[in-house]
Amino acid sequence: MKKDINKHLVTSLLLCGLSTVLNAQTTKAGKAKITVEVNTPGHRIPSTLFGSFFEDINHSTDGRLYPELIRNRSFEDSDTLENWKFINQNDASKASVINVDTLYPQVGGLNVFNRKYLSIEAKGEFKLENYGFWGMNIVKGNSYTFKLATRRVEGFNTPLKVSIVSAAGIELANAEVKGFDEGWKYYTVSLTATGSDPKAHIEISAKGNGRLHMDMISLMPDQTWKNHGLRTDLAEAFNAMQTKVFRFPGGCWVEGDSFKQMHNWKKTIGNIDTRTSSWNFWGYNATQGLGYHEYLQLAEDLGAEPLFCINVGMSHRDFVPMDQMGQWVQDALDAIEYANGAENSVWGSIRAKNGHPKPFNMKYIEIGNENGGDQYAERWKLIANAIRTKYPDITLIANSWGAYPKDPMPDLIDEHYYDNPEWFILNADKYDNYDRKSPKIFVGEYAVTSKTGKGNLRGAIGEAAWMTGLERNSDVVNMSAYAPLFCNVNHRAWPINLINFDSQHWYGLPGYYAQQLFAQNQGTVSLPVKVAGAPLLAFYEKGGLGFGTSNNSAEFKDLKVLASDGRVLFQSDFTKNIDDWQKTAGEWEVKDGVLRQSATTVNASVFFGDKSWTDYTVTFKGRKISGENGIQIYFRNQNKEDQMRWEIGCNKNTGFTLDNGFSKQIIPGSIETDRWYDIKVEVKGGTIKAYLDGKLIQEISTPNLKTNSICVSAANDELSGDIILKVVNAAPGNLKTEINLSGAEKLTGKGKAIVLTSATPLDENTMEQPTKVSPKTENVKFSGTTLTRSFPGNSLTILRLETQH
Ligand code: AHR
Repeated sequence: MKKDINKHLVTSLLLCGLSTVLNAQTTKAGKAKITVEVNTPGHRIPSTLFGSFFEDINHSTDGRLYPELIRNRSFEDSDTLENWKFINQNDASKASVINVDTLYPQVGGLNVFNRKYLSIEAKGEFKLENYGFWGMNIVKGNSYTFKLATRRVEGFNTPLKVSIVSAAGIELANAEVKGFDEGWKYYTVSLTATGSDPKAHIEISAKGNGRLHMDMISLMPDQTWKNHGLRTDLAEAFNAMQTKVFRFPGGCWVEGDSFKQMHNWKKTIGNIDTRTSSWNFWGYNATQGLGYHEYLQLAEDLGAEPLFCINVGMSHRDFVPMDQMGQWVQDALDAIEYANGAENSVWGSIRAKNGHPKPFNMKYIEIGNENGGDQYAERWKLIANAIRTKYPDITLIANSWGAYPKDPMPDLIDEHYYDNPEWFILNADKYDNYDRKSPKIFVGEYAVTSKTGKGNLRGAIGEAAWMTGLERNSDVVNMSAYAPLFCNVNHRAWPINLINFDSQHWYGLPGYYAQQLFAQNQGTVSLPVKVAGAPLLAFYEKGGLGFGTSNNSAEFKDLKVLASDGRVLFQSDFTKNIDDWQKTAGEWEVKDGVLRQSATTVNASVFFGDKSWTDYTVTFKGRKISGENGIQIYFRNQNKEDQMRWEIGCNKNTGFTLDNGFSKQIIPGSIETDRWYDIKVEVKGGTIKAYLDGKLIQEISTPNLKTNSICVSAANDELSGDIILKVVNAAPGNLKTEINLSGAEKLTGKGKAIVLTSATPLDENTMEQPTKVSPKTENVKFSGTTLTRSFPGNSLTILRLETQH
């Protein structure tokens, strides 16, 4: 039921292939000039403008912002011993997961919320091993708390040995746990590491007879950020972003694929042993160790405004009948009381008991995530009215999936954008002409997610260009949030994420530094700014052609390319081989007038034709032979990875995708195997038309494919007195630019420039080179109110110009 643009995006990226570099040409123009009207200041810039969106995706929380080292500590992940190894030296002992719902309900588990535990029937020696989340990072001299709950059944009463062991088999710490009871009892020991290893594991062993039940086996580092239980280096990386608003906990995680998986904050607070772990939409079981309380605490520790997104009564698949929405309304009201209520209120007292007597002062609540349609509107109305009545000061945020609800009118509407760098650059002026009478905007999720490699400089340039537009228009765009934040590199469920980590290290994408630079240099009052004479950046104007397949085999014949004046630009009856065509992968062969790709491999493509071709019509016959997908035609191709495309029978032959580099139109459809189709694509200006057997199947238009290569915002910072300019040069080459600070009176002629750029737009940071693309600072000197500066191609420059303050 959900209109699922983003998931389509990911699917099509995975199935149909990713492209990574830009296709942009600059037009010649006069000298560029930026004019900042310092003497006519504009609106105040909301302090919440630059924020971030946090979701437990890519094992960002379990496995590791939440630093539990043991994976499946509570045996809730499955009915088998998942992520544990049981080593049974004489083959007589047994280990099994007991699900109290199906086995021994009369005996019960650790508590009513914890449904599973481990049972060991020991007859001699045994050992349990847990390797955590792709290895445990153990650091020499650091201490770790080991905790478990056990219950002795049938006489088991020999000690358990607990050891932390390096990948090379060296013991880094050990302790003994003994004296078990017949009822559940907790045991805690402290372990201090005598050596370091990022890939260590834990072993729990014994030699004994009888039965022992175990649950909540935990190993936690004692050192956490601000002693609030989060992995220090990752929390610090986040903190360095100076994020001003913190949207949590999702995302799709809020909705759940079904209600069973939706995020329910009430199950995530209090004693961790009684939190109900649940299957996370992003492909793993979540312990809820980072729960509602901890999210609020994290926002407070970051100095960011917490923004809680709550389920509206809709999952990806279902919706709650209107007459059963009572609990959803109550949950929203209670969430506010938990965050803000007095210590003697029902939920405020629970917050106090959980360690935070003072209210968190949460001001923002978003009702639903990416929900839309009539079902959303009526549920929005119910919850929003209830909140408005009881908590009139709360800012209510609505989804704008399709259209935003108008009854009651939201305070802010949440828009989400995931696209390629060129889309963001071209849309950097999106809000310049926004109707100022319409509701204010929260761009609650945005990021360059395609044509950016694994997150390169070009992606950061796209985001930075877009952010200048957010800042210029922050009278209407009051808040924004980059999404998503964290990714364990061993489990990348989402293609592009800002902070990437393994058990020990992390690195930020170039976009991480762009986020930092905008937040650190926001300023308080917007200054009007004009750009003149900058070269225009033209996207996807020209280029040759290509064919492709993905996980399938196909044939092509009778190829003809006609220019718009009817001239034949290219023709082939495939009597000659295609040695001069550029290939990526696959087995391409010409035989009997047919070009065939016969390997079952992803992204098998060939490219041909001239990079200077602009408008043309390509016709050919195509036939799918076998495999998952269909036929791909590339056009306006500048290099092997950057072009427009039409995919016939993509997403496992369930759809057709027309992608002009800015917008992607996906419609349902399939093609038959072993049938020749007449295929035609007309490429004219910003309009692409795609035909199958003479019938127009898809058409897509981007009216203006040109934009200023320079994107700028300017602000006055009343605190420091600085005039701050953010200048993005999205063109490939240097651009000498005159900056005129019109009407500025107190400039000292001194300042600094912080520049984010790199040798090529494709440069990325990695675990080995974490700061390859990171900002460099230099001093700036000028006289009067004008300075001239050369902005490198693909750069973001923050200019902070001092005034006598
Ligand atoms: O940020 C990743 C996902 O993208 C979010 O969960 C969802 O809101 C959007 O579809």
